[in-house]
Amino acid sequence: MIEIGKIKIDGNALLAPMSGVTDLPFRRLVKSFGAPLVISEMIASRAMILQTKESMKKCQVQKDQYPMSVQIAGCEPEIMAQAAKLNEDLGADIIDINFGCPVKKVVNSFAGSALMKDEDLATRIMEAVVNAVKIPVTMKMRLGWNQENLNAPSLAKKAQEVGIKMLTVHGRTRCQMYNGNADWQAISRVKEAVTIPVIANGDIKNFENAKTALELSKADGVMIGRACYGKPWLISQLNDQLSNKKPQPIPNLEQQLKIVLGHFNEMIEYYGVITGIALAKKHIGWYSSGLNCSSEFRAKINLMGSFATIENSSSLAKKAILEICATIEKFYESQHNFLLKETIN
Ligand SMILES: Cc1cc2nc3c(=O)[nH]c(=O)nc-3n(C[C@H](O)[C@H](O)[C@H](O)COP(=O)(O)O)c2cc1C
Repeated sequence: MIEIGKIKIDGNALLAPMSGVTDLPFRRLVKSFGAPLVISEMIASRAMILQTKESMKKCQVQKDQYPMSVQIAGCEPEIMAQAAKLNEDLGADIIDINFGCPVKKVVNSFAGSALMKDEDLATRIMEAVVNAVKIPVTMKMRLGWNQENLNAPSLAKKAQEVGIKMLTVHGRTRCQMYNGNADWQAISRVKEAVTIPVIANGDIKNFENAKTALELSKADGVMIGRACYGKPWLISQLNDQLSNKKPQPIPNLEQQLKIVLGHFNEMIEYYGVITGIALAKKHIGWYSSGLNCSSEFRAKINLMGSFATIENSSSLAKKAILEICATIEKFYESQHNFLLKETIN
């Protein structure tokens, strides 16, 4: 159990926000397995207050996602405050501030992890956001900009002072990007600096990792990103294991087929046929990872619907949907046959 202000999170493993991945269809799916907290993709605060189509899509809240956290990024305290207030009005339960994004485009506009280099501005942003809303505000950061500036503990203290209710720390510096290993031990220095909940993040793929990360960081919970690719059930399994319960089993192939087709259809419904197909392909590929002949399957799926995208033709896209569904079904059916053959041999 983690408390974010007055909101109780019934579990210690949380889904990480991931641009281009943790959209509404994926969040709903992860939540449907029992994940305790989901967070939106990062939304640029300027785009948010202009209510661009893309940002309005990213911040959508649905009742079945409670408690839903919306993550905002930017470097102007007043704009960040306005973006937070807008999300509160739109139904967000929690606002998360992004001080961790390492991407060049983001840090060049002095947002994301660049703000770890300017603690005063970062603090003013957090203060403005906290004061603008009644809902709890959390913050996600890295260990620092580089190895010479591991200032996460100092920024954490400031965050707590201005009223931030939970911190997530990705155990890498900005300069590491995604290289090397996440340093879970280093996160313990943040935990020692504050009394609000601290969540450890980075390279956690399974129960063993989660346990070790919790032991080394002394954190209150773990946040998992990339290991959830193609495994929307992972977060709830980890929560079961972390609370000494028997984990829900990995869905069998028949159930997985239903999950993949359901996810694909949700994406088509949510994004429309052309964008839906284009964006769903990576998820379909991730689901197939580790299964027999998955690379051939991925290559086949990747080619499907490409003409529809080039021609921007929804009638071609509708035809491609049927082809993709049939190919997915055939692929999962072939896994059954493969397993059967393996058992007989
Ligand atoms: C594709 C992708 C998109 C990401 N987008 C965001 C984002 O929007 N906001 C954020 O705070 N972190 C983002 N991250 C970072 C993750 O939340 C997480 O901190 C990082 O992947 C390390 O955790 P992991 O090893 O469990 O994946 C992203 C990571 C990936 C791989």
